[in-house]
Amino acid sequence: MGYIGEREALPVLISSLKRLEYRGYDSCGLALLEDEIAVFKGRGRIEKLQQNLPPSPARIGIGHTRWATHGKPSKENAHPHLACNGRIAVVHNGVITNFQKLKERLLAEGHTFTSETDTEVIAHVIESYYRGDLLDAVARALKEISGSYAIAVISPGYDGIIVARNEIPLLIGVGEGEFIVASDVAGILEQTRRVIYLEDGDIGSISRGAVRIFNNGLPAERREQQVPWNIEEAQRGGYKHFMLKEIHEQPEMIDEMVKRYISATGVKFEPGLAGGTDFTDILLLACGTSYYAALAGEHILKKLGQIPVHAALSSEFNYSDTILRKTLAIAITQSGETADTIKALREAKKRGCPSLAITNVIGSSITRVADATFYLMAGPEISVAATKSFTAQLIALYLLALSLGKIDPAFQKKLADELRGLPQKVAMVLTEEEKIAKIGRYLAVCDNVFFIGRGLNLAIALEGALKFKEICYIHAEGYPAGELLHGPLALLNPMMPVIAIVAPDGTHDMTLTNIKEIKARGAPVIALAPEDDSEIEKYTDRVIRTPQVNSLFSPVTNTIVLQLLAYYTAQERGSPIDMPRHLAKTVTV
Ligand code: G6P
Repeated sequence: MGYIGEREALPVLISSLKRLEYRGYDSCGLALLEDEIAVFKGRGRIEKLQQNLPPSPARIGIGHTRWATHGKPSKENAHPHLACNGRIAVVHNGVITNFQKLKERLLAEGHTFTSETDTEVIAHVIESYYRGDLLDAVARALKEISGSYAIAVISPGYDGIIVARNEIPLLIGVGEGEFIVASDVAGILEQTRRVIYLEDGDIGSISRGAVRIFNNGLPAERREQQVPWNIEEAQRGGYKHFMLKEIHEQPEMIDEMVKRYISATGVKFEPGLAGGTDFTDILLLACGTSYYAALAGEHILKKLGQIPVHAALSSEFNYSDTILRKTLAIAITQSGETADTIKALREAKKRGCPSLAITNVIGSSITRVADATFYLMAGPEISVAATKSFTAQLIALYLLALSLGKIDPAFQKKLADELRGLPQKVAMVLTEEEKIAKIGRYLAVCDNVFFIGRGLNLAIALEGALKFKEICYIHAEGYPAGELLHGPLALLNPMMPVIAIVAPDGTHDMTLTNIKEIKARGAPVIALAPEDDSEIEKYTDRVIRTPQVNSLFSPVTNTIVLQLLAYYTAQERGSPIDMPRHLAKTVTV
């Protein structure tokens, strides 16, 4: 964060930092430009730091909320970091890869360090070049610094803020007589919706009334844009947690998406594929929850698009030697900023693939890497654990599969009609909330939970387990039901419930067989099963009924159930649901 304007900087920094906390929340700090620089920092959340802050007349300041990479979460390691003379303060997102070498040189030159972070070297390198011109010193320092960064720098010698970006998002909100620097739009929405996105290699000097941006030493033109989100969308709006709000937004969100692309005459989904549709196969690249959407997408696209598809974890793809020929590479990423996914898409492009990004964040870094972008338009997702963005990704993949036009037109129309009815089915799941919450309260005492699924719903079992890890802190494993016999059965006991996804498709009978095998080993079984599955009750301990949908769309309704289940289990356990320990919404490193 950074602020320069007519108002006192402190309250603006505090409220904007709170909105950026989902980017990291193990420690935080701020630096205010008075006659000298006043720094306040501490371990933990902004709210705690705020309690001990004296008022300040400063109209310029920078702030940071940290997700530790180099050095444990502590007051010393929290940003901002100062140069030796205390007159240069820096906040930084990213990783400086050559910090050790720089630190050794600086130590030899007599600099002293107070933290274990890579960031602190930035302040000292700037100091070593400072001859009265902060912009010049930052530009010279960055020539020596390798790695990824978004930085904001202040010094009493300059009535403004210097910012710079390389591979890490940074933007400048343009207000009335003020500028707000932030890592993402959530940090500026309360003040303004006008925004300038910085590009890699940009260095900006933000003074009163003017922003000047340079790239490679030359002035660079960066267009001001309007953020399509408003502050209400980024507020909890009466819900106890963002996660619950975001779960409840899903029927409307799907409805809007479907209406945008499906009309009475058919599917009009043109993601602007570069190179047309002349590709032989598809590679889906993603991390975390988005990867599970990719995994489900692999099934969906193979079935409906009738095309070879491979879903790969971005972080692993970067080590693979897969030969790609006429492959369409699709990066799926809510934030558009996940470092591994950006790197993987770059690599696929290098190997000659046309590329598409499916993302939720307008102007995010992935959109500058991909040849074409499809925006999910799911609205801001604040809860660290993804919910509505996952569902939106699934819908995008259905739309893409249907638009490939490889299936019989009558079948395509039938599916398109059913997609239009999906929001109503999702709303029906939400009416079961209280029943699901009750089962969540029962699961809250468990230390281990298994999730099983087959086929299209395997990805949903994996995603269900991820939610339990993320927000319930319960050891959870998602497993292909057919693989239980090859090891995991040995783990089962009466304190290890198994959540089984029973879908009305070719996997039904085999999943039922697995459920019987589990019951025979004494583990309780909770099944997710459609309303008309009359058999299921005989073999399970509890059943969560899901609305009747085409089995192709059952991942959507099943996902909503598992999101609610994780939410209520976490609530019963007293977890900090929106900001789970050790995690962050956007992994830019
Ligand atoms: C982090 C978040 C997850 C998310 C993953 C991928 O781990 O906590 O919720 O699924 O990153 O993020 P992306 O923005 O690429 O979808």
